Amino acid sequence: MSTAAIAIASDHAGFPLKTELAAMLREKGYDVLDLGTDGPASVDYPDFAYEMARALKDGRAARGVLVCGTGLGISIAANRYPWVRAALCHDVTTARLSREHNDANVIALGGRLLGTELARDCVDAFLSTGFGGDRHAARVGKLTSPPDLDGTARETSGT
Ligand code: RB5
Repeated sequence: MSTAAIAIASDHAGFPLKTELAAMLREKGYDVLDLGTDGPASVDYPDFAYEMARALKDGRAARGVLVCGTGLGISIAANRYPWVRAALCHDVTTARLSREHNDANVIALGGRLLGTELARDCVDAFLSTGFGGDRHAARVGKLTSPPDLDGTARETSGT
């Protein structure tokens, strides 16, 4: 188990699942940084993606869990920040591969779509899987530093 804090944030639609997942993470011994929201009142998911991006940028957390109704809006918002690789996951396989292939540092989940047990299993897989490196490393590098739109050809790096 990592000793670095796991940040967690949601909008109102994700709040019930966030509460469940935060409790699960604490039970497992993780240091949980809860960035809100703190109740069912309607809020805007980009504001909580922003809080997640800040926490990752300033080192308060190494990984994060984001929840909104579908996981769509909050993952789109989080991925506006170049140091965030937020993976929207609906099953354990995508959660595992988001780490192995994409070095995702945030898992995004749909609180209105996933059952609690499946969501717990997704977070478990996300936190327990390492990055595969090798051919995936150059690709992930291109996510952080995409080329300018000047027609420059990009190298490919195998299968
Ligand atoms: C909130 O109603 C809902 O739109 C939001 O949680 C999310 O699903 C957006 O992508």
